[in-house]
Amino acid sequence: MRLLLVGAPGAGKGTQARLIAQHFGVVHLSSGELLRDHVAKGTPIGRAAQAYMARGELVPDAVVLDMLRGPLVAAAAAGGYVLDGFPRTVEQAEAAYDVAKDLGVSVQLAVYLKVAREALIARIVARGESSGRVDDTLDVVERRLDVYDKQTRPLLDYYRERERLITVNGDRPVEEVTRSVLVQLQRARKLLD
Ligand code: AP5
Repeated sequence: MRLLLVGAPGAGKGTQARLIAQHFGVVHLSSGELLRDHVAKGTPIGRAAQAYMARGELVPDAVVLDMLRGPLVAAAAAGGYVLDGFPRTVEQAEAAYDVAKDLGVSVQLAVYLKVAREALIARIVARGESSGRVDDTLDVVERRLDVYDKQTRPLLDYYRERERLITVNGDRPVEEVTRSVLVQLQRARKLLD
């Protein structure tokens, strides 16, 4: 199984990716978590990414692709992955596809978690009180949402046109969202063979 969760900041990608990966016994890979880890450790990747993340902007593709190539191939070889936060632009999706297709490890399905903007802001600002994430402030959240609209939203059409997109209402309790994702994956199981 090779799944991707797409959605705006705060849509629940990390929460659902963790639960779905656990359910199927595959690896959960979060580009945001990996980047935060690099920043915390002060690695060259972390130093290249830090300022972009603090402003709520996307880290350059080359940095992200470099960071993820190894973990993605390893996860696919170990039975699959649930990806969250990558790809985040059509350019990243195309670059990832070019690398993955020869190895047979490209994304099979993208799950879009749809949540209204006001709910997204409320979730992230609430999390900001305890998360310690420098990008969980009102100003930066608004910037992240604008970046999402401009740079990530076009990904939905990219996967829709390839008949690889599942849409789930993410504006419900966590367990209900998970249940809907699992039902839809079951319906689309032919694409996961
Ligand atoms: P990243 O870490 O990917 O952040 P994000 O996309 O902004 O998403 P969040 O982590 O805020 O939200 P989420 O959708 O995962 O929701 P979560 O489950 O956490 O990226 C951070 C930065 O890294 C980017 O801005 C960029 O700079 C850089 N970056 C990352 N990937 C990149 C890439 N590919 N290319 C370039 N740059 C990249 O939930 C949010 C909150 O809501 C939590 O408190 C949670 O408990 C709560 N919640 C979850 N589900 C529900 C629910 N159903 N009901 C109520 N509350 C809920």
